Amino acid sequence: MHPWDGPAGMRDLREFVAAIEERGQLERVSGADLELEIGGISKIARRDELGTALLFGDFEGTVPGSRVLTNALDTPLQVTLALGHEPTSDIREAVLAQKETASEMKTRPVEVVEDGPVFENVQRGDDVDLTAFPAPRWHENDGGRYIGTGDVVITESPDGDDRNAGTYRVQVHGPKTATLNIRPGRDADRHRQAYFDRDEPFPAVISLGHQPDLFMAANQRFPSHVDEMEYVSAQRDQPLEVVEGEVSGLPIPAHAELVVEGKVWPDAEEITEGPFGEWTGYYGAGETQQRPFEIDRIYYRDDPIVLTYNNVPMTATAMSTIRSGAALWHQLEEAGMTGIDEVTTIFPGIWFQVISIEQQYPGHSTQVGLQAMSLPAGSWEGRITIVVDEDINVYDLDEVLWATVSRCDPAEDMQLIENCVSSRINPRLSAEQEKSGDHTKSRLFFDATKPYHWKEEFPPDTKLDPDMEADLRAEWSDLLSKP
Ligand SMILES: Cc1cc2nc3c(=O)[nH]c(=O)nc-3n(C[C@H](O)[C@H](O)[C@H](O)COP(=O)(O)O)c2cc1C
Repeated sequence: MHPWDGPAGMRDLREFVAAIEERGQLERVSGADLELEIGGISKIARRDELGTALLFGDFEGTVPGSRVLTNALDTPLQVTLALGHEPTSDIREAVLAQKETASEMKTRPVEVVEDGPVFENVQRGDDVDLTAFPAPRWHENDGGRYIGTGDVVITESPDGDDRNAGTYRVQVHGPKTATLNIRPGRDADRHRQAYFDRDEPFPAVISLGHQPDLFMAANQRFPSHVDEMEYVSAQRDQPLEVVEGEVSGLPIPAHAELVVEGKVWPDAEEITEGPFGEWTGYYGAGETQQRPFEIDRIYYRDDPIVLTYNNVPMTATAMSTIRSGAALWHQLEEAGMTGIDEVTTIFPGIWFQVISIEQQYPGHSTQVGLQAMSLPAGSWEGRITIVVDEDINVYDLDEVLWATVSRCDPAEDMQLIENCVSSRINPRLSAEQEKSGDHTKSRLFFDATKPYHWKEEFPPDTKLDPDMEADLRAEWSDLLSKP
């Protein structure tokens, strides 16, 4: 049984929306335009830390009742509710809860059912019209409307022995045409290639609204043999109910809001996809050429909700902080690091990591820092790693900067590592690197701990004693309470 007062595991996005609304973390908005307004409003709301998801509705020219949900995984409460952890607004508790499950790779079969709410409405043949559903243009220079940013794309190998659910962005090109931006190396890319090698079309179903635990599993790095739907079934402690797609037979979450079924032909002429404003805060790889995804069926519930997820630079969402902090913490412990007190990744998931430790031996802080830079959860787009003492709150950037400028002597405590893994999405890759395929970049490590061999003699700091702070806050609550 899960900690909230409901059935074991929320089945769909509506239950999640109801749960966050009940706790004051959802705002319903009507009258916002799909052309740039939804993207802009959501960005400002996140930057201003409003702490509420936004459920936009009442659009002109779309299926009546259709809605777009943004900023839904921005607070620890939203993320813990989605993942079935004890609901909490405390980021530290949320990271710890997620760390407990970070090593679990349990799976449980999904349950195939005959019917489900997703079949309430079906578009077939000439009725198929993806443009009838709300697809925002998120950023000014996006190459089009993107309906899939919080999506789950379900694919299988041609012999059916390997199934995957992944998040790949989906652009709308016309009533029956979309593109699926599956990058090389992804599990769905393997499936696609296997179909194309047989000269057969590559089938896929795209869920555009679902309980966010499925979305979070779809874009988490799992071993390729793990079926994310089976992982979610195990995490929920109840099987994900799926119905079969009319054309492909692929599994479709029975409680999904809106699902598109179709295929990509191996000999189709490529069309231009993108550019799209990436999570890095840049347009990244620019335009890409993709074979179109031809739509056979659209299934949707009455009043469908499109789940979206757009990251912004500079402020991490709770989803990225909790998930990547927990993963890095878990991997550091697996690698044998001791004395870890807290781990966080402050900017969107992976640029910048801060780890606090209780120093135990000479070289401990450097060892932890260098490990964090190279473990899977800390590498790729990692740039700066800072290790601080346990008295520093890793979630408070002001404190982290204070420790860095006061306890780190650049000449002694900074290490520059070159030729580290990165990716095409790195805005700092030079044109030559782009061309040659050399996607490596450097990393910087700051040891912002007090020097181990004389830490006891380090000048005492002037921080307030926590008990004294609590007493002062209680006594002077009118004066000191936040507006
Ligand atoms: C919001 C969001 C959007 C993403 N968009 C893409 C994308 O367009 N193309 C892509 O290849 N990966 C994208 N990813 C990353 C993949 O979802 C992620 O690497 C996932 O683990 C891939 O799963 P797979 O290895 O099972 O294919 C995105 C991730 C997130 C969180």
